Order: sequence, then structure tokens, then C-alpha cells
Amino acid sequence: MTGPRKTTLPKRYQRLLDISRDLASTLDLEALLDRIVHAAAELTGAQEASILLYDQITKELHFEVATNMSQPMMRGIIVPLDGSIAGWIVANRQPVIIADTAQDQRHFVRVAQVTKVKTTCLLGVPLVTKDKVIGALEAINKRSGQFSEEDQDLLTALGAQAAVAIENARLFQQSDLISDLVHELRTPMASLSTAAHLLLRTDLPDEQRHRIVEIIHDETFRISDLASSFLDLARLESGRAQFRLETFDSRNLLEDCDGVMRSRALDKGLSFDLVIPSKLPEIKADRDKIKQVVLNLLSNAIKYNSSQGKVTLGASATAEELVITVSDTGAGLSPESLSHLFEKFYRAPGSEKLASGTGLGLSICKRIVEAHNGRITVKSEVGVGTLFTVYLPLKPGE
Ligand SMILES: Nc1ncnc2c1ncn2[C@@H]1O[C@H](COP(=O)(O)OP(=O)(O)OP(=O)(O)O)[C@@H](O)[C@H]1O
Ligand SMILES: [Mg+2]
Repeated sequence: MTGPRKTTLPKRYQRLLDISRDLASTLDLEALLDRIVHAAAELTGAQEASILLYDQITKELHFEVATNMSQPMMRGIIVPLDGSIAGWIVANRQPVIIADTAQDQRHFVRVAQVTKVKTTCLLGVPLVTKDKVIGALEAINKRSGQFSEEDQDLLTALGAQAAVAIENARLFQQSDLISDLVHELRTPMASLSTAAHLLLRTDLPDEQRHRIVEIIHDETFRISDLASSFLDLARLESGRAQFRLETFDSRNLLEDCDGVMRSRALDKGLSFDLVIPSKLPEIKADRDKIKQVVLNLLSNAIKYNSSQGKVTLGASATAEELVITVSDTGAGLSPESLSHLFEKFYRAPGSEKLASGTGLGLSICKRIVEAHNGRITVKSEVGVGTLFTVYLPLKPGE
């Protein structure tokens, strides 16, 4: 290649890196595809760029997004695997540069008819994740000159990043988590809708009106709790949660938790005991996240306790591990409930009457503890109480 182009190379690669990082943090498929095509056009100096995704079942390519098309217009376009450049790219898993598309037998004209953009030259790369081709990324009409090997390298690198990001976003969209959330939102939404409907009635006594406003207040809180817990869990499940490891005094952390929860327990007429040795080791972990675990366990021990019951926060340590225990004298859990306890959104029968909750707290705890290479166990006896134990390595392996 010529001299001036060489000098622009590092800058374009730097840009590629920035873009890749940006892509990795997007789980919204539509937004992601849009960013990819704009990045593709920018990086290769092309007029337009587009993505076609391969449907493994129908064995067809679907036009998904292009820099120059609005969504509804293109969604209808199915591109045949035989007789299109994109099809060739997908079938051969190879990039292609075509200097003059009019001369190429494989050129598929239907897209041009819809978009009214005439393709003169084209650069296309397959979108490949580790085991399969998921589609093709194409850039058309270089703004000046012809597509080069260097453009091809850049687009191939972008394609590899894009393919992984697309797969992630798709997995996320299909995950049970989303359908579970939608399901869980239905109940508070239905209460809100009923409440609003009732408030429209003019003949309602003030007292009832007041009660309905309280319900609206509670339900909106519940939705907002659900949203923040859900985001926590989604981040943990997708491996996107950030863990900031630091070395800290474990005794100090437990005292912090005591500081937050003791008054809550006393307010409910419960007693609260902190039973820890005078010296506990330092631990390397994400302090805020471990605190979140202990606080949720304590909050459960308070919420699901019996009247005048007892909450105990304890700890001990071995050379390798810190062991934290949270016990209560509440109603306990049946073997049946215990078997579902760490499932998302699970709440034991009758819990709703005792306290509100999302049923996500323990799922989040488990994820956090396991991310630290630790484990969490539970023992419970109906009518006696429940004991949660968290084992955390003092130094989590890399
Ligand atoms: N200490 C406990 N005693 C009795 N039941 C418990 C105890 N801890 C948890 N549970 C049961 O397990 C369920 C799930 O607990 P989890 O912490 O995941 O959710 P939650 O407390 O309902 O909601 P959130 O933690 O988001 O406020 C609870 O709803 C309750 O039924
Ligand atoms: Mg909880």
C-alpha cells in the first residue's frame, strides 16, 4: 500500500478497539446491529454497510440492518444462499472484495431495488463465532478508490467482535430471565391497573381511596425493587458484573453489617447477636458485594422470623476460609421449599404474608459467592429456624 495510508493505520485500529469495547457492553440486539453497521462503514470508508443474518432452520439469509434503510422496509427481504454475494460469503466462510459488482454473477439485485442504492463495489466478511457462521457483514461503495486488503482486515476483525456480541445479545434475549421478569411484572402491573381504575370512581369513600393510594405506592416500590435486583442478577448471569477485589478486615465488614441491620431487628421486636472472635483474618474479595450477601441474609432472617425471635450473625475462620453464618428462629423451611430456595423469583408459600420481596436476593447471593469461588449452604427445620452458611476463600484463585 502507499505511504499516506500506512500513517492512518494505527488510528483506525485504535478506533476498532474502542468500537469493540462498546459492542461488548451492548445487550440490546437492535442497538447493537445498528452500531455495528455504522462502525463498518466508518472503518472501511464505505458509503453504506449492512448485516445479513443466517437462519439455521430455514437456511436463508435475512437482511437485518443497513446504514441506509429503515427497519420495516428491509425486514421483508430474504436473500437466497445461492445466487447472492452474502450467501457465497456465508457458505465459504471467506471474505470477498468485488471491484465491480455489475460484473459479478452472484450479485443479488433485489436489495438495491428496495433501497434505491446502486452498489458499485463491495467488501464482505463472514460473521463467525467459534463454531458457526451466523451471517455476513458487507460494506459497499468505497468513498474514494477501491476496498483494500487493509479494509478487509479491519472488517474481518470487526466481524469477529460483532459476531460474539450478536450471539450474546441473542442468548440474552432468549434467556429465561427475561420471560421470568415479564411474568413477575404482570402481578404488580395488574394491581396498578385495578387501583387506577378504582380511583376513577367518584363515589369512593376517602378511607378506601387512601388504601388504594397505599397499594399504588407499595406496588411501584415493588416494581422498582424488581428492576434493580433483576439488573444485578442479569449482570451476574451474563458475566458482565464488575468485581473490584480489595484486601480488607473481615471483622470490620461484619461490624458494618451489624450497624445496618441491628436497629431493624430491634424495631421488629427481635433480638440481634453478633458472635465473632476478637480477631478475624483479612480477606481478598469485593467488599461491597460480600456486604450485599450478608445484608440480604440478615434481611431475610429479620423478615421471615417469628415474633420476639432471634437473629444471630456469626463468623469463624480457618487458614483458607472465612465462614459466615446467619441464623434465625423463624418458621423455617420445608424440604420442598429448600429444594427451590436458590431459584430465581422463588418465594416459599406464605412469605408474602410476612414480608414483601422479589425472590431474587438469594439467587444474587449465590452468584456473588460462587464468583468468589466460595459456596453457600442452608439448613432449616420447620418451626425451629434457618441457618445460612457462607464459605469464602481468603484469597480467591484467579
Ligand atoms: N431465613 C429465612 N427463613 C425463612 N424463609 C426464608 C429465609 N430466607 C429466605 N426465605 C424464603 O426464601 C425466599 C427467597 O429469598 P430471597 O432473599 O431470594 O428473596 P426475598 O427475600 O423474597 O426478596 P428480596 O431478597 O429481593 O427482598 C423468601 O421469599 C422466603 O420465602
Ligand atoms: Mg431476601
